[in-house]
Amino acid sequence: MRSTNEIRRSFLEYFGSHGHEVSPSAPLVPYNDPTLMFVNAGMVPFKNVFTGLESRETPRATSSQKCVRAGGKHNDLDNVGYTARHHTFFEMLGNFSFGDYFKEQAITHAWNLLTKIWGLPAEKLLATVYHTDDEAFELWKKIAGLPEHRIIRIATKDNFWAMGDDGPCGPCSEIFYDHGEHIPGGPPGSPDEDGDRFIEIWNLVFMQFEQAGGEIIGDLPRPSIDTGMGLERIAAVLQGVHDNYDTDTFKALIAASESLTSVPAEGGHRASHRVIADHLRSTGFLLADGVLPSNEGRGYVLRRIMRRAMRHAHLLGAKDPLMHRLVPALVAEMGQAFPELSRAQPMIEETLEREEIQFRRTLSNGLRLLDEATNGMTEGGELPGETAFRLYDTFGFPYDLTEDALRSRGISVDRVGFDTAMAQQKAAARAAWKGSGQAADSEIWFDIAEREGATEFTGYTADSGEGRVVALVRDGQEVTSAKAGEDVIILTNQTPFYGESGGQVGDAGTIVDAPGSGSGELAITVNDTAKPLGRLHAMRGHVDAGGIKVGDTVLLTVDIDRRDAVRANHSATHLLHAALRNRLGDHVTQKGSLVAQERLRFDFSHPKALTPEDIAVLEADVNAEIRHNDPVITRLMSPDDAVAAGAMALFGEKYGDEVRVLAMGRTSGSRNYSVELCGGTHVRATGDIGVFRIVSESAVSSGVRRIEALTGEGARRWLVQREEALKGAAGLLRTSPEDVETRVAALLEERKKLERELADAKRAIALGGTGAAVDAPADEDIGGIKFFGQVLEGLDPKELRGLLDQAKQRLGSGVATIVAVNEGKASIAAAVTDDLVGRVSAVALVRAGVEVLGGKGGGGRPDMAQGGGPDGSKGAEALAAVKVVIAG
Ligand code: ALA
Repeated sequence: MRSTNEIRRSFLEYFGSHGHEVSPSAPLVPYNDPTLMFVNAGMVPFKNVFTGLESRETPRATSSQKCVRAGGKHNDLDNVGYTARHHTFFEMLGNFSFGDYFKEQAITHAWNLLTKIWGLPAEKLLATVYHTDDEAFELWKKIAGLPEHRIIRIATKDNFWAMGDDGPCGPCSEIFYDHGEHIPGGPPGSPDEDGDRFIEIWNLVFMQFEQAGGEIIGDLPRPSIDTGMGLERIAAVLQGVHDNYDTDTFKALIAASESLTSVPAEGGHRASHRVIADHLRSTGFLLADGVLPSNEGRGYVLRRIMRRAMRHAHLLGAKDPLMHRLVPALVAEMGQAFPELSRAQPMIEETLEREEIQFRRTLSNGLRLLDEATNGMTEGGELPGETAFRLYDTFGFPYDLTEDALRSRGISVDRVGFDTAMAQQKAAARAAWKGSGQAADSEIWFDIAEREGATEFTGYTADSGEGRVVALVRDGQEVTSAKAGEDVIILTNQTPFYGESGGQVGDAGTIVDAPGSGSGELAITVNDTAKPLGRLHAMRGHVDAGGIKVGDTVLLTVDIDRRDAVRANHSATHLLHAALRNRLGDHVTQKGSLVAQERLRFDFSHPKALTPEDIAVLEADVNAEIRHNDPVITRLMSPDDAVAAGAMALFGEKYGDEVRVLAMGRTSGSRNYSVELCGGTHVRATGDIGVFRIVSESAVSSGVRRIEALTGEGARRWLVQREEALKGAAGLLRTSPEDVETRVAALLEERKKLERELADAKRAIALGGTGAAVDAPADEDIGGIKFFGQVLEGLDPKELRGLLDQAKQRLGSGVATIVAVNEGKASIAAAVTDDLVGRVSAVALVRAGVEVLGGKGGGGRPDMAQGGGPDGSKGAEALAAVKVVIAG
């Protein structure tokens, strides 16, 4: 028996050895297609290659593509568990030719692989062709030697395959396997074709046309091939079983739930085991690809699948959460082929466990209500829609879960009543909102949110992707289109653009026509993205060229350099927060933050300024975490669980049912260096931050400090600028950067010494040339009074008194006046020897001088007075005025 893993490998090897490039499966979320909820066929990642919008070096490819069919157009959810071949998750094996080989080689490859490599008996196989496709009919005869009665012409759309209303399409040929007479059912095209005997195993699509809005609009550039074979089906055939759930992979998963619940896999609980095995695969892979449970969009589909499985776990009598304990079995089966699954294992387990704990809190009460409401109902009964709505609203029962719960009793649910109850609740919410007095201009956002639902944010995992325009807003009004030259706010059903929130700036970037949509001329520059009502991502743009209208499909691309810088700053903010608490204590709480492209700002409570050592330790700690380069882990939890897990919650923030919890940095015990609730975008691993540098620390208000810091390229540039400045200084000092400090210290010391010497010299000069080879002014005689007057530049005014005392001594009897000029300002002091005090007042002299110097007042005693003025250039005139006063 070949294992499923061997079959996958053998398929890829076969086509790989025939010139096909082996492509890894694309993620389940189709960022290149806003009309699809999940990738649902192998060709989806290649759709633009078929239409010629994208080119590939190799014109052939092969893959085993992860697919989910739950929600959206292809929804198999309701049947899963009750049939042999329905799955929410499956793998599609495919080989693709992009304008290279066509029908003949496609049929040849399929036939060779099935019959020669895998050894299926030719007589067990039959083929269908589109009723007009004589060429394919003849090829099946020629290549496979199939008799004509086993080549069946089909006129319906079963043999005309299209990706959706838009995209490539063409006639197809399906290969069927006959499971044998013991199973009821007729060949394709016969009245009992829906029986289980003849099972389609492989669909060969002869891609030839392109559709738009369900109409063929033209030929593809070149005829191409797209094939799809469900891995689970072919595994069943090759393993000789009739039921996909009897293949090795499913048997292993079911054995795990059987052993954990001790409920036999066969018998009354068969469907529950199957539901659990199937849903385990879809939830595991969706989580690994970045979808998290929520109440909107893709996240809600995931939640519905999870809760459906969890109800079945409950039916199996599991006393504790079960799903997360099955993840190791899933990883053991599929982790090797899909490394993303192994990588995400801890996150998958944790998310499943928390979701199951949360759901179990209301599950039994909800089931009790359901029992009461259906008590006495018999097969064919209908549960009122209002009850289904109450189960949804109060107990978290998605609609399809209620349906599933009643299915075995043959009771249906009133869908119309459910929808009406839902609409009434929305209307009530709207009335309450209107009554709350919110600004009228946000009414437009309320309208849009109600009509279109929340914007699906794809930017946690993607920087670019397609979206359908759901609303345009200009000057506060909804409009249907915008043209070149206009400013417009654009809303799409999904977008990678982050809307400003939680301190992180909104994304900027560009919007153009999606490949193959519109005229291709559209060019919009998005400068910012807001997040009105916390649910809509409103991109503020300017239309540079072309036009945009509601309904268009556009390609949205975030400015990646800017986003990366913002990411690095945001993650660094978390590390800084943790470092601050480690260094300063648990009283440190976040008081505000700004995470922009250029820098980060973090405000926090702390009573006093940080010391240089504090700053050094913070920087070293954060950089140590950066260098350790551990992956950043995102989990989704209820706010209470998050806080219990050690996350730092922000006081005063509003949180929804679920919060994202970001863990980063090294672990000690079971805790990461930093654990915070955060909806922002973050680096993949701390090393992406590059380097962290604090550039300022200041006070914001009493008890609140602010740190500004840089990371990555910003920090590098800052450091380079500093280095350049240091080099410049070293150049001027004629030394090396390393010696700048000692050189400056030496210069300062020298300067002090020179200042001291200069002061001594000036003093000497002032004293009349004693010991100095400088001319001091000669004493004058004014009406019999000896006068010494001098203007000294750069003399410290504090020296005046001492100098005048010395001058008095030298004069014996007389008057001395000195003006000291410093930085343009003047100080003046006068001294009178005791014998002359009765004749001349030092105060009067100083006042006269001060007036000339542009100042006011001046005072002291009759023998010694001092004053000053702003006009330092008038020193000599001030002395002249003094002399006039002495002369009387
Ligand atoms: N794209 C084709 C299918 O999904 C092969 O059936």
